Amino acid sequence: MNTTAVGSDTLSLVDNRTGQSYAVPIQDEAIRAIDLRQVRVKEDDFGLLSYDPAFLNTASCKSAITYIDGDVGVLLYRGYPIEELAGEVHFLDIAYLLHHGELPTPAQSKEWAAAVARESVVPDGIVNLIKSFPQDAHPMAVLIAAVSALGAYYPESKHVRDKAQQLKDFTRLQGQMRTLAGLIFRHHTGRKVEQAPVTGDYDVDFLVGLFGDEPGYKPDPAIVRAIDVLFVLHADHEQNCSTNAVRAVGSAETDPYSTMAAGIAALYGPLHGGANEAVLQQLRLIGTKDKVPEYVAGVKSGDHKLMGFGHRVYKNYDPRARIIKGAAEEVFKVTGINPLLEVAVALEGVALADEYFIRRKLYPNVDFYSGLIYEALGLPAGMFTVLFAVARNAGWMSQYMELMADDEQKIARPRQIYIGPERRSHKS
Ligand code: SDX
Repeated sequence: MNTTAVGSDTLSLVDNRTGQSYAVPIQDEAIRAIDLRQVRVKEDDFGLLSYDPAFLNTASCKSAITYIDGDVGVLLYRGYPIEELAGEVHFLDIAYLLHHGELPTPAQSKEWAAAVARESVVPDGIVNLIKSFPQDAHPMAVLIAAVSALGAYYPESKHVRDKAQQLKDFTRLQGQMRTLAGLIFRHHTGRKVEQAPVTGDYDVDFLVGLFGDEPGYKPDPAIVRAIDVLFVLHADHEQNCSTNAVRAVGSAETDPYSTMAAGIAALYGPLHGGANEAVLQQLRLIGTKDKVPEYVAGVKSGDHKLMGFGHRVYKNYDPRARIIKGAAEEVFKVTGINPLLEVAVALEGVALADEYFIRRKLYPNVDFYSGLIYEALGLPAGMFTVLFAVARNAGWMSQYMELMADDEQKIARPRQIYIGPERRSHKS
């Protein structure tokens, strides 16, 4: 044991195959995996790899955008607790904060909202693309196609290192993703597929884009507020699966539209953003609260997962789920209580008291209650993850631009541990 290293910011490793010892620097409570390559038996060996399927304990980047403490259930956007932001700071100002690092001044906020509104019009070709899909096509499949196709309209977006171009594309994507949600919803529900006039109030414009069938339609202020809270809560979440996809694709210097399409594709999965839709299907399957114990028994016997529960990072109550539960009560005062709320509350109660979930630290996550609100607003389940994507575009684009500015980053290309056949010939 190398006692001289005691007290230094290093990790002492001894390779018992050779007796060789190594001092590996520790920085930010981490070691660099590349420092393991020096550990080898023979001089011309490749050296040690770190093996971490699903990245359970691997940091892929340094980021200043979002901080999560999963043990205590803390979520900070640029240092501000989510509880101080949701319902207090408008979603577009949060989008500004995530990228710029500071909340906008009133003048900056006004200009940013106006810029997003100006960029909200979707090209006619994209409207026709949406209309070309079967009406019952899943809205997320249509959104992936539409956002990916947008890149064809903006070839200048390939200048991915140009900060002014990045901001232009962020502004356009934030405005057009909101418009796309309305167009896709209208096609999916058999309404006339046309772009609603844009006023500059992001949440009002979003709801008018969805439900503005009658001239002069004005959404209920309580619904506008709830949508804003939901957008804020879904805006970013450090290196989740879809953000990891965005960073991997963006690392190849892919344009932001194609890169966001990759993020939307990852979010679509039922283990990730698609869980909000799966939760509603689960609650409908259970039907009534007296059927909850039987369903939970099926979870414990491994028949099915409890959708909307569990999280890779949160081993405590997801702070967003707590806030969404409160927002649901406000929405239900306007829409009437979603009858499935009773089932959800009963399901949560049973799970939180059950050793199976306690031992595995499984708590409700952001997706457990959000679908109840969306359904009460009149949205079909296929639209739930579309709303998640509209909000998460702010986080994805902020992380994409942070990646482009990070001198330590290069094209993402993991190694592997090869377990296939040795070299052989098919001629023998
Ligand atoms: C989001 O990462 C993010 O930040 C994502 C997100 C964001 O904002 O971007 O927060 C959004 O995606 C939230 C998660 C939404 N997904 C779901 O609600 C789907 C249901 N949840 C699970 O699939 C699961 O909890 C994950 C995918 C969320 C996390 O999976 P992990 O971290 O890989 O955990 P695991 O599968 O290793 O589970 C550990 C144990 C296992 O049991 P044992 O093998 O130890 O006996 O817990 C069990 C799992 O079987 N378990 C569950 C469970 N989740 C984990 N058992 C039943 N139901 C579940 N939901």
